[in-house]
Amino acid sequence: MNQSNPTSVRSVSSALGLGQKIFSTPEERRFASAVETGLDAVEAGLMSEMSFADNLADVTSRYLLNAGGKRVRPTLALLTAQLGDGNNSAVIAAAQAIEITHLASLYHDDVMDEAQMRRGVPSAQSVWGNSVAILTGDLLFARASKLVAGLGETVIRLQADTFERLCLGQLHETIGPKDDEDPIAHYLDVLADKTGSLIAAAAQIGVILSHAPGAYREAVTTFGEKVGVAFQLVDDVIDLAPKVDETGKNPGTDLRSGVATLPVLYLRHLAATDTDAADLLARIERDVNIAQYGVADEAEFTAAITELREHRVTRQTLEEAHRWAREAVEALAPLPAGPVKKALTKFAESIVERSS
Ligand code: IPE
Ligand code: IPE
Ligand code: MG
Ligand code: MG
Repeated sequence: MNQSNPTSVRSVSSALGLGQKIFSTPEERRFASAVETGLDAVEAGLMSEMSFADNLADVTSRYLLNAGGKRVRPTLALLTAQLGDGNNSAVIAAAQAIEITHLASLYHDDVMDEAQMRRGVPSAQSVWGNSVAILTGDLLFARASKLVAGLGETVIRLQADTFERLCLGQLHETIGPKDDEDPIAHYLDVLADKTGSLIAAAAQIGVILSHAPGAYREAVTTFGEKVGVAFQLVDDVIDLAPKVDETGKNPGTDLRSGVATLPVLYLRHLAATDTDAADLLARIERDVNIAQYGVADEAEFTAAITELREHRVTRQTLEEAHRWAREAVEALAPLPAGPVKKALTKFAESIVERSS
């Protein structure tokens, strides 16, 4: 693992402060150490899962895994597993399957978004072309299915339903809202489907496979969905960030691929009454149209992205992300007070405070 990469593996668990003073009682220290041990087990298994009966597939599937990643979803699964009997082998296998599903979706997403960079390295399709990138994603989906096959019908169904929602979310993002549909409501539904579903599944498998009380399942599902929407809203703001070395992605990828994220949707709304907003929107739309033919004036496009990032619509988007994160935490009310609830609360806060 490339630990010097800023998006490297431990950023979520360290953002949770698991090794720090806020988890200071013996019970909290045991909890923090269990999550860390679980993450090590997930990590070790992920690498060994990237092995197919083909040398090229081994290289292409290990490529993004080795490039970094925050391991948000397995971390969440391990957190909720501490509500039951902790890190058993089924929890670890399911956490790996969820991360592999996520990884596969990144290979496909970068083809769809024509993204140049991922996790600080050139995207898979810029190295091997679209077909190899798509097939690598497919192989990873197959591997995730194999992992959940031994975990019982509930988890198999959860994985299938989640994968279906993830694909529908990506499809609805690609197609855009229907004429009679509110663009912001459509966008929020897309975020819940493409991102919230997998994060909610991660939260659920921890409860199910650790045999935690069934009553917790609904609470962590709502938590995962809402924190997932918050996570994607922040991701969409990060897309406007200038530094590829911090984010591991190129700025403006969503705009270039024609995806109107919440800052743009707010700007469109504002443009009806505000001439400065209308002017910025017109410049962005002109640059995006040109960019799709590959001859954009990069300096002008970068200036428009900077303006959008500093515009109040982006602040409003972050406020919306905070609102979703607060609602996520409210959904935890049925959980007992203790280290899991404390860590999930910290998890929601770190998701909206992150910059990568
Ligand atoms: C990127 O997810 C795709 C989204 C759903 C926003 P992450 O930000 O979790 O990606 P990695 O795993 O850390 O690279
Ligand atoms: C992709 O959303 C979500 C999934 C991979 C399902 P984005 O397109 O915003 O993710 P990034 O920014 O490329 O990571
Ligand atoms: Mg993308
Ligand atoms: Mg994005």
